[in-house]
Amino acid sequence: MQAVGVIPSKKEVGVLEHSNPEIRHDDVVRVRCLEVGICGTDREICTFVYGQPPEGSEYLILGHESLGEVIDVGSAVKNIKVGDLVVPSVRRPCEHQDCQPCRAGLQDFCATGDFVERGIKARHGYMTEEYSEHEQFLYVAPKNLRDVAVLVEPLTIAEKAMAQVWLAQQRLPWVKNNPQGTPRGKGLKAVVLGAGPIGILGAMKMVSEGFDTYVYSRSRKPNPKAALVEAVGAKYISALDHTVDELVEMVGNIDLVYEAIGVSSVAYDVLRVLGNNGAFVFTGIPAPKPPIEVDADLIMRNVVLKNQVIIGSVNADAAAFEAALADLDVFVRRWPETIRAVITGRFSIDDCQSLLLDKAQGIKNVVSFT
Ligand SMILES: NC(=O)c1ccc[n+]([C@@H]2O[C@H](COP(=O)([O-])OP(=O)(O)OC[C@H]3O[C@@H](n4cnc5c(N)ncnc54)[C@H](OP(=O)(O)O)[C@@H]3O)[C@@H](O)[C@H]2O)c1
Ligand SMILES: [Zn+2]
Ligand SMILES: [Zn+2]
Repeated sequence: MQAVGVIPSKKEVGVLEHSNPEIRHDDVVRVRCLEVGICGTDREICTFVYGQPPEGSEYLILGHESLGEVIDVGSAVKNIKVGDLVVPSVRRPCEHQDCQPCRAGLQDFCATGDFVERGIKARHGYMTEEYSEHEQFLYVAPKNLRDVAVLVEPLTIAEKAMAQVWLAQQRLPWVKNNPQGTPRGKGLKAVVLGAGPIGILGAMKMVSEGFDTYVYSRSRKPNPKAALVEAVGAKYISALDHTVDELVEMVGNIDLVYEAIGVSSVAYDVLRVLGNNGAFVFTGIPAPKPPIEVDADLIMRNVVLKNQVIIGSVNADAAAFEAALADLDVFVRRWPETIRAVITGRFSIDDCQSLLLDKAQGIKNVVSFT
């Protein structure tokens, strides 16, 4: 069977021959891969700074953003049947019995660091014609999401981040006691940093939560990313045209920052202008670089005097996958053309080298196996 992977010891990237492991447990589901999204993590693995093959394997199959169709189920599989569309999660728990997060099914909070991740760390990914997975790590996607469900995994980043933000903001009784039926973000202002796939999907999430949403990113308007952001009712502001101080003048009190930029200089400049009782959630993962200068006294003073919270959020839990599926259904009904336009290219497995190694083009590119 064909798969796309890396051989770190030879610094090679490309199509490999790979055999799908037999179903060895009754709760395992066999999946025919339909689509796999490519993201910055895959591209980083292809520069060999990151990524780890499974023990005993020379290669690592890439791909962690997948949509597949079930072709076989083990005898103990209860809620998934042949023909279902499924989206798998990425991270698997560590084996330490005293790791409370992993034992509670919250391996996104793994306390030991010994978790594994499909397509990234010590487990093969999904960029292969077929794969197997335990039922508990698969989420059934309704058929009407067939052409967009490959976006579920990148959307889970915003879902987990927002769940964390709302948990933190329970400290504010007027947020906690939000009247039933009123969107939780109504009357609040959110700034999304970055208009890549993580930022665009995050902006859709903020708008659907009722926030007055601003996306602060690099490229000048007009550009396709700004067009998508504005099509869902958010405002796009280019960092090339407006400083962070101008941004805050336009927005007013910033209640929430969803950082999806991965550029620390911009992130800390915006942290400097976070509003009263505001929450700042970091999701970007910058590569290590020399230290930068920030106005640390001002930031520290603000965090204290403005009762701010700063949250880091990585990966996603089961609740985030369920929420992403539910929200994607909302997006498809509310913005059918816009959500589909986030996927800017579908490519065959033979194009994988240029997709993974050449300069990134478009917004979300997908390898299609059909
Ligand atoms: N926490 C997690 O679990 C998780 C999961 C996945 C990804 N991530 C991280 O999330 C971040 C975003 O991912 P992505 O795939 O959406 O990235 P991406 O496609 O690279 O998008 C980054 C966006 O930021 C903008 N940008 C870059 N430099 C800028 C600058 N100096 N000023 C203003 N805007 C700037 C880019 O503008 P242009 O449009 O002009 O290029 C682009 O729109 C990355 O750091 C990634 O590592 C985290
Ligand atoms: Zn990804
Ligand atoms: Zn753990």
